[in-house]
Amino acid sequence: MSQQSQHWVATAGQPLRGTLDIPGDKSVSHRSVMFAALADGVSTIDGFLEGEDTRATAAIFSQLGVRIETPSPSRRIVHGVGVDGLKAADGPLDCGNAGTGMRLLAGLLAAQAFDSVLVGDASLSGRPMRRITGPLAQMGAKIDTEADGTPPLRIHGGQALAGIDFASPVASAQVKSAVLLAGLYAHGHTSVVEPHPTRDYTERMLSAFGAEIEFSPGYARLRGGQRLRATDIAVPADFSSAAFFLVAASIVPGSELRLRAVGLNPRRTGLLQALRLMGADIREENPSTHGGEPVADLVVRHAPLQGIQVPEELVPDMIDEFPALFVAAACAQGPTVVTGAAELRVKESDRLAAMATGLRTLGVRVDETPDGATIHPGPLGAGTIESHHDHRISMAFAVAAQRASGEVRVNDVANVATSFPDFDRLARGCGFGLHR
Ligand code: S3P
Repeated sequence: MSQQSQHWVATAGQPLRGTLDIPGDKSVSHRSVMFAALADGVSTIDGFLEGEDTRATAAIFSQLGVRIETPSPSRRIVHGVGVDGLKAADGPLDCGNAGTGMRLLAGLLAAQAFDSVLVGDASLSGRPMRRITGPLAQMGAKIDTEADGTPPLRIHGGQALAGIDFASPVASAQVKSAVLLAGLYAHGHTSVVEPHPTRDYTERMLSAFGAEIEFSPGYARLRGGQRLRATDIAVPADFSSAAFFLVAASIVPGSELRLRAVGLNPRRTGLLQALRLMGADIREENPSTHGGEPVADLVVRHAPLQGIQVPEELVPDMIDEFPALFVAAACAQGPTVVTGAAELRVKESDRLAAMATGLRTLGVRVDETPDGATIHPGPLGAGTIESHHDHRISMAFAVAAQRASGEVRVNDVANVATSFPDFDRLARGCGFGLHR
């Protein structure tokens, strides 16, 4: 079967039961390989996400002359070449589906002595890049995009970069990280102020690799010209992958799941707060830290959910979890209102449109607005859903189907391998009705 034609047939299954090990965090996995590659010395990464996105980033560093060993699945040994040790690649660098890979690499490669070309798949090739090429140009970088600001990115190396004080108009960890990575090579200091704090893995990890960096929620500042020191990284389980099971167990009567040692960085757990406002029964057990990140087992039981007005201040902390939230909202009592979430229109797909269209197909009323939607819950029927090349849309509708009265066909689900290749095996194992 070709990748494009892969589909799922999903139906209501059993009450969801069991203990699941969710794979490694995508954001942390991308950054771990990047910083290990730039460090002096050898770093070991444990819990690396074996997804297409993060493997694409590792493959790019191999093309840039970094030796990366895979002694066993989810482990990488990275022989760092130092901040000045990357070599020109012999061709375009393919970021696959990964906005994180492309945007962070753009910041890094803009500062190298050699030229690079960054390309991506159909979804990534339609995503906006001016949000990074703008500030990088202010620093002295030369990057060409297509006329509408989309990839490929043609990066002209050999530019001397100067630090900037950048007030980002968009709450985006990718934008912040691209500027900080360029700042690592720039003359003087670089600072970023955000309109709302976003995930701070770049700052935390730069610090773990020995860089001097000042940071607090919504702010980061570093000095150019620093070296990085190899360190070992333990990647926590990805909250964004866990999110689908949190919602699934909440909406399927009789369910109880334990998700082991999930990463609970506060900049990622907005959905946990939103689900609890809706009445979800989710407990945190065995709290500890893993590679400097807070983790805990999440024990989730079925509970009746109420619709809510999602607090706008939670939006950046749950930016990847709206497909899952829409499904929870469709199964709640009373409408759920989402506002202040226009960024969802420029993710792997236009997630407001993709979720609204898909839920309508199953019989749920959704009123879309430019920056959000109102979801009016109701019984879920049957139908055919398009994933719009978006892994999280695919997984969200596999979850929705667990409460549907009929068969839900989800088209084009190969994209799930970008972030969660084992999703369907884990889902079936705990009781989902889900078949290829
Ligand atoms: C990410 C940042 C977020 C998020 C993406 C991963 C990161 O994107 O949606 O999945 O690892 O920095 P934006 O920076 O575009 O908000």
